[in-house]
Amino acid sequence: MQAAMARSFVMPTHITMLLGLVLLLAGVVSGIQLPFIGKPLMPSPISHEEERYAPGFTLRHIFHHGTEDHPKLHLRKDVGPSYRMASGRRSFHVSSRLKTVTRMSQRDPDFIESYLHYARTKGAVAIDFDWTHQDIMVPDITDRDTMVEFAKVTADAYVEDPTAGDWIDVGLPYNETDGFGWDSNGLRGHVFADETNTTVIIAIKGTSAALFHSDGDTVTSDKVNDNLLFSCCCARISYLWSTVCDCYEKAYTCSQSCLESALYAEDKYYRATLDIYRNTTSLYPNANIWVTGHSLGGAMSALLGRTYGLPTIAFESPGEQLAAQRLHLPFPPIPLNEITIWHVGNTADPIFMGVCNGPTSVCWLGGYAMETQCHAGLECIYDTVNDKRWHISISNHRIRPIIDMMVSYNTTPECVAPTNCQDCYDWNFD
Ligand SMILES: *[C@@H]1O[C@H](CO)[C@@H](O)[C@H](O)[C@H]1NC(C)=O
Ligand SMILES: *[C@@H]1O[C@H](CO)[C@@H](O)[C@H](O)[C@H]1NC(C)=O
Ligand SMILES: *[C@@H]1O[C@H](CO)[C@@H](O)[C@H](O)[C@H]1NC(C)=O
Repeated sequence: MQAAMARSFVMPTHITMLLGLVLLLAGVVSGIQLPFIGKPLMPSPISHEEERYAPGFTLRHIFHHGTEDHPKLHLRKDVGPSYRMASGRRSFHVSSRLKTVTRMSQRDPDFIESYLHYARTKGAVAIDFDWTHQDIMVPDITDRDTMVEFAKVTADAYVEDPTAGDWIDVGLPYNETDGFGWDSNGLRGHVFADETNTTVIIAIKGTSAALFHSDGDTVTSDKVNDNLLFSCCCARISYLWSTVCDCYEKAYTCSQSCLESALYAEDKYYRATLDIYRNTTSLYPNANIWVTGHSLGGAMSALLGRTYGLPTIAFESPGEQLAAQRLHLPFPPIPLNEITIWHVGNTADPIFMGVCNGPTSVCWLGGYAMETQCHAGLECIYDTVNDKRWHISISNHRIRPIIDMMVSYNTTPECVAPTNCQDCYDWNFD
């Protein structure tokens, strides 16, 4: 089964130069639409190259989940071949390998969400989960081209949708009288699947802030969520800052239960991410699901991956460990280096490195309280400061230069467990 899956292959509808070259190397003649799915493309012997680049992922659905004023809004757009062709969306090719992962044996959304609710309301109770070991396909993070493809998938999730009108309501129907412009706020999930629907990738769209990206459409809610997820106490930096929740009690003292409820609020990104996952799994109930994202989207993907035990590649994510703890996300009883959540970043990105803070940083000047530093997963760090003489700058957080940078390396960095990282240690949480 696994071998058959690894060898299945269908030509993408749109091939970029780079991908074309890759396919050529794989011994594939481009331009042919292959009718047979799930069979080896070339006569035997199958080379390693072919297995590495099968199967191809294409965009299938876009979810848009409302937040802030429209938390019940949840729309889905189904994407077919003609749309992909018209919008120039290509397919993505990644290599995978079999790995034994440890995750909760009971992982359906109803169970997980009721656990999250229970853990939050009952406080820090030790819950004895039933853990299971499963052999599943995971992305091959030692393969340079696979990493680059994942980065491109996250970049694709930023691409605005050129067509409008064919959204399907999957939450409560949107009430037009509530106001227009629902698409200016909220979280977006782009769902990709391989040709057999065996593996599905959810790419979560992150920060559009003018500070981090050139132009975006979800700036306001992104900023609120950034400040909620990555600050010690509701972005209560000083009395001059407007806070995103009311958990501050007194100097360096913050209410823990208040923070936990704020993060889990219906109108914030974490719950929206859970809804996108729930809807995706109901479309692909038997699929092996992977998650990815960049920046805030990277952090959300890591939180989702942690919640459900999904292989996750997060790019340039701010430290999300504190949020994972506040949400009581399950941590499997395995050595940290066995975790399949990979945080990819570079040393010249102050957001990823957790140094975009302090009164003179661009983050603070922009009103972003990016105080956390710790990632809850393995860190795969490109040392661009030493290798490339990059200066620490917010521009090294953007996904485009990151993709070029990753291509310029022949290998991928080793992914290692961070050592004893603790955020906000000067605060008391009661
Ligand atoms: C839409 O909102 C308006 C004003 O808030 C309300 O009067 C109306 O009943 C709502 N319609 C639906 C279908 O919920
Ligand atoms: C894969 O899922 C799509 C829905 O996105 C469905 O139309 C298609 O028939 C499925 N293909 C296979 C091979 O199951
Ligand atoms: C999709 O998500 C909405 C919440 O936004 C939920 O009410 C609905 O039940 C979900 N649908 C499926 C099929 O999971």
